[in-house]
Amino acid sequence: MPGTVRTWPAWPEFGAAASKEADVDFVHAKKAIIEEYGADNLTRSWLAVCQKLKEVTEDIASQGSSIIPELNADDVLANGFGEAERERVRETGCFIIRGVVPHEEAKGLYRDLTQFVADNRSEIRGWPAETPSILKLYNSPTQNTIRTHPNQLKLQKILNELWHDETGETCADPLIYLDAVRDRPPQQPFLGLGPHIDAGSLCRWADPKYRRVYSQIFSGRPDAFDAWDLGLRKDADQDSFHGSAHSTVLRSFQGWTALSRAAANEGTILLVPNLCTTVAYMVLRPFFQPPQDGADIMDASKWTLDESGVFPGTIKTDSQRLSRSSHPHLRLEECLIHVPPMEAGDTIWWHTDVCHAVDPGHEGKENAAVVYVPACPTTNINKRYVKKQLECTLAGRAPPDFGEGSGTDESKYKGYKGHEGMSEDARRALGYYL
Ligand SMILES: [Fe+2]
Repeated sequence: MPGTVRTWPAWPEFGAAASKEADVDFVHAKKAIIEEYGADNLTRSWLAVCQKLKEVTEDIASQGSSIIPELNADDVLANGFGEAERERVRETGCFIIRGVVPHEEAKGLYRDLTQFVADNRSEIRGWPAETPSILKLYNSPTQNTIRTHPNQLKLQKILNELWHDETGETCADPLIYLDAVRDRPPQQPFLGLGPHIDAGSLCRWADPKYRRVYSQIFSGRPDAFDAWDLGLRKDADQDSFHGSAHSTVLRSFQGWTALSRAAANEGTILLVPNLCTTVAYMVLRPFFQPPQDGADIMDASKWTLDESGVFPGTIKTDSQRLSRSSHPHLRLEECLIHVPPMEAGDTIWWHTDVCHAVDPGHEGKENAAVVYVPACPTTNINKRYVKKQLECTLAGRAPPDFGEGSGTDESKYKGYKGHEGMSEDARRALGYYL
């Protein structure tokens, strides 16, 4: 099937034993939800969600990568999302928008980045240390040009508008979240980011404001779950158990802009192109334990209530991990699929609750380079963070979520331009008027 991982990589599996942290926060979080919503409601949802997953996974497995919607920037920037497109992206939770940065311009920006990195090589650290492909670099001219590109800012507002908020306390105006850059050479395997969902892990269950996001799921009404309710989501604390994997800000969509070609088995990204049913399964999964007989594993009715502190794939300081054995109904081997080929200037976007993984292989001929550029709405938490982030930038420090970064002052790098010549829209998104 096009897009399917050919040989399952050596990503970790998360069985009950591996996830059992001797920590009362896990037990308390589960107990609080069982008490509040009741075991019967959780079971009702579990059965309904596993049933729905049969249809969802069949659909993904049969369509492969073609299920991921592809749109052109010119159309979206001129007309927004049409009703049919909106429905589709709400279902998949992910989509490609091509040509957000014109192709030749993006290629030129990659050349600039390569030069900038070469000029400052001794100052810039990468991750993982043995094969550094994600550079701890946040304010190179290339990154700043791409994230403040007029098309980007306009698009990010349109993407933020896919969410809604009846409280009137937020708005869709984009705020810029500084993140790193990836420049991955061919033939460099990478197993560091297997299937996972960002925006925290245990906090989804433990933080009372965060778990309200999923209250319909816990209440036995998974069909009523609204993954686009910013009014609920805006107050969720994604970093209540602090960890370097957690972003403080809510990204309505995570995403990257390609600086060079990226394709299946050539250093791209894999996604589970389904939002609501998959995340419903993920948040319900800790409440149920599998049947003894492995032959019954796919029969949801044979799973039983689990009131212990077991949360498979949940590690406080890490993103929420998923695996074949811990989350069998997702059929990850068939449903975690490569995105279609991307060229310089194209963008991929995935809702903050979508499961994704970095391509374990890169058998292409050229470096697969991307700038991480998400969409962030204006919320109080996001505003507070962006304000601090700007202070850090102006002082030459890494953004607050990234610790020491490379441990060197970027503003002293050769070729550093900072926010020189930025438009008013860009300065607003960077937090100058907060
Ligand atoms: Fe991620």
